[in-house]
Amino acid sequence: MVGVTNINKTVVVLGATGQQGGAVAAALRADGWGVRAVVRDPSGDRARALSAVGVETVRGDLGDSESLRAAFSGAHGVFSVQPNSGQAGADVTNEDEVRFGAAVAETAEHCGVAHLVYSSAVTAGSTTGVAHLDTKSRIEAHVRDLDIAGTIIRPATFMELLVTPGTGLDRGHLSFLMRPDQAMQFIAVRDIGRIVAAVFGSPDRYVGRTMEIAGDALTGNDLAEHLTQAAGRTISYSRLPATLSAQDEVLGKLEALVDDGRLAGNANLDALRAEFPFLLRFDRWLAGPGAVLLAEALRASDTGIVLR
Ligand SMILES: NC(=O)c1ccc[n+]([C@@H]2O[C@H](COP(=O)([O-])OP(=O)(O)OC[C@H]3O[C@@H](n4cnc5c(N)ncnc54)[C@H](OP(=O)(O)O)[C@@H]3O)[C@@H](O)[C@H]2O)c1
Repeated sequence: MVGVTNINKTVVVLGATGQQGGAVAAALRADGWGVRAVVRDPSGDRARALSAVGVETVRGDLGDSESLRAAFSGAHGVFSVQPNSGQAGADVTNEDEVRFGAAVAETAEHCGVAHLVYSSAVTAGSTTGVAHLDTKSRIEAHVRDLDIAGTIIRPATFMELLVTPGTGLDRGHLSFLMRPDQAMQFIAVRDIGRIVAAVFGSPDRYVGRTMEIAGDALTGNDLAEHLTQAAGRTISYSRLPATLSAQDEVLGKLEALVDDGRLAGNANLDALRAEFPFLLRFDRWLAGPGAVLLAEALRASDTGIVLR
C-alpha cells in the first residue's frame, strides 16, 4: 500500500538483481518507497531492468564496506540478503556469507539507518550441522548484538526451487527432500518481497521481531497433484533415492532436518494468511508467477541436477 510516510524515504536493497532482493525492490516501489539497489555491475541487463522501473542503482560489493557506507548514506532502511555457498554455481564461502551479513548490519548501524531487515532462513536458531545453513544463525546473532532497530525474517524453502530446470520434470518426475506423505512449508519469492514491504511500512509492529514465513505446506503427493494439474500431464513424486542421501553427507543431513521438522518449517500458516492475505498457495503460484518457470522446467531436458 502506498503510504504518505514512505514518500521521500529510501530503502537500500542488497541482492536486487537476484530473487529475494528483486521481489523486495518491486514490492517497495509498489508501496511508494524510493529504492536504491547496490549492484556489482550497473551496466548489466538486470541492473538496467531495475533502473527502467525507477530503482536507483549504485555500484557496490558486499565485500567492500566503503561502497556499502556510500550506498547507505541518508537511507531510512536496508534490506540485507547474502549469497550462500550451498547455491548452485556459488562463488562464496560460508565465512564470506557471515562476513558480508555482519558488514551490512554494522554499516547500517554506523550510518544511522532506522530499520534493518535481515533475510535469514527457516533453520536458523539451532545448530544444524550444515555449515551453509548455520551461517544464518551467526548473522542473526550479529544483528541482535548491534544497536539498530531490526527485523529478521526466516523464509521457508522457495516454491521456485521446485521448478528448477534440469531436474527431471521434462520426464514427468520430481524428487525432493520429503517423503510423499510428509508436509514441508514453502513460500513464493514474490511474497517475501511483499512481506518485507509490509515490515518496512509498519515498524511499530515489526521492529524487534523474528518471523518464520511461509505461504503453503505441501506433501510430496500434494506437489505431484498440483504440478500434474498445472502441467496438464502426469508428474509423479518420490523422495530422493536413499543411495544418494547415504553417499552425500549434506543431503542426508538435509533430509534429517526435514524429518525432525526444522527444515520442513513450523510457521503458523493460519496466522500468516490472516496477517498477509496476499500469500500464495502453491496452486495459485503455479497459475500465476510460477507459470513461466514451470513451462521452462517442462521444456528443459534432465541434466541430473539434484534439488536440495
Ligand atoms: N532457495 C531457498 O529455498 C532459500 C530459502 C531460504 C533462504 N535462502 C537463502 O537465500 C539467499 C539467497 O537469496 P536469493 O535466492 O534471493 O539470491 P540470488 O537470487 O542467488 O541472488 C544473489 C544476489 O546477491 C548478489 N551478490 C552476490 N555476491 C555479491 C557481492 N559480493 N556483492 C554484492 N552483491 C552480491 C547478486 O548480484 P549479482 O547480480 O551481481 O550476481 C544477486 O543479486 C541465500 O543466503 C540462501 O541461503 C534460500
